[in-house]
Amino acid sequence: MTTDFIQSSFAERIGGKKFGQDTTLYKFEKIKRAKAAAKKENPNTELIDMGVGEPDWMAEKEIVDTLYQEAKKPENRFYADNGIQEFNNAAANYMAEVFGVTDLDPQTEVNHSIGSKPALAMLPSAFINPGDITIMTVPGYPVMGTHTEWLGGETVNLPLLKENNFLPDLSSLTEEQKEKAKLLYLNYPNNPTGATAGREFFEQVIEFAKENNIIVVHDAAYAGLVFDEQEPLSFLSLPGAKEVGIEIQSLSKSFNMTGWRLAFVVGNDRLVNAFATVKDNNDSGQFRAIQKAGIYALEHPEITEKTAEKYSRRHEMLVDALQDIGFKAKKPKGSFYLYVEIPSATADGDEFNTAEDFSQFLIKEKLISTVPWDDAGNFVRFSVTFEADDKEEERKIIQTIKNRLAETDFIF
Ligand SMILES: Cc1ncc(COP(=O)(O)O)c(C=O)c1O
Repeated sequence: MTTDFIQSSFAERIGGKKFGQDTTLYKFEKIKRAKAAAKKENPNTELIDMGVGEPDWMAEKEIVDTLYQEAKKPENRFYADNGIQEFNNAAANYMAEVFGVTDLDPQTEVNHSIGSKPALAMLPSAFINPGDITIMTVPGYPVMGTHTEWLGGETVNLPLLKENNFLPDLSSLTEEQKEKAKLLYLNYPNNPTGATAGREFFEQVIEFAKENNIIVVHDAAYAGLVFDEQEPLSFLSLPGAKEVGIEIQSLSKSFNMTGWRLAFVVGNDRLVNAFATVKDNNDSGQFRAIQKAGIYALEHPEITEKTAEKYSRRHEMLVDALQDIGFKAKKPKGSFYLYVEIPSATADGDEFNTAEDFSQFLIKEKLISTVPWDDAGNFVRFSVTFEADDKEEERKIIQTIKNRLAETDFIF
């Protein structure tokens, strides 16, 4: 039987006739292969993985117990469709308690989602016609841009530059781009830069959105994970935000629940309704028992605070270690990402023209895995989500990183 008809059936959006035959290695595959090779060559040295974008802790025992209890109840077995009202109520209370957003109607302004990734994937279907623009930021989480393009829309990528504190420069958009733009995607605390946005920035965003009739989608996946002088900040806590936008809150990182798949879209009622309509045509909702475990989580924001304390402590240790070696590392105010500018070379003659070069060097020569970003400057991202049972172990791991790096003379 010939399979040619299969090869010629793939849609252009996934590569058309060439789907599956592309031999280009993408970033994460390159990292994976380099890690496997380094481990094989150095079987007695532990590879320290600072590249993982997921919490090292599992969900609290009480959350797991709630799932266990609720999973046994026959009334939880049905399709959940657009979600259970109790979850929306808990989400609205959480927004009030953690972010001071007190004016939410849990009937019309909240809708659960099976994680924020599918919400980002579905939102363009509610707004993007061919030729419409979604404004994205780079480096960043690309899902909304990908789906915009799959629908025949276009993306405009605004660079997140160090000199602008990793905030996009909205004034760099042309009149035509602003005219065609329907959606503006923002994410603070930001993956991968770790940058946080302040109230002034969100105020500018709201003014920009009103002036240009652009809908704001704020991806708040790390919103609860802040430290030092940074208070948890929701886009929706700003006056006027609900007139122009929505926020996506996720339980993945805040409650160590990545695999559970639970998030919610919150904000402007008509935007939430548009999302719910698209969602209803994509999935049948998250398992009610998981939503109920999610309610327990949302009622216990101290879990997020405890998690944030751990990341804050690890960031401090890592920043100190990297600074001692000569890196210009600066502790972020949120997220578990430390985004560090690469050195240009080593005194031994290794040159790093890209972050990818440097990240490969770190894996091969130092058995330290990071994620490189070359979209706007050359940076590597360390995640402080490495596996360590206690502070002592954390200290040991950071000390090992420091010792390994200190053996080389880096040129910055
Ligand atoms: C910025 C950002 N948005 C969304 C997600 C996806 O989160 P979820 O687990 O809620 O789908 C991630 C996950 O890494 C992320 O970094």
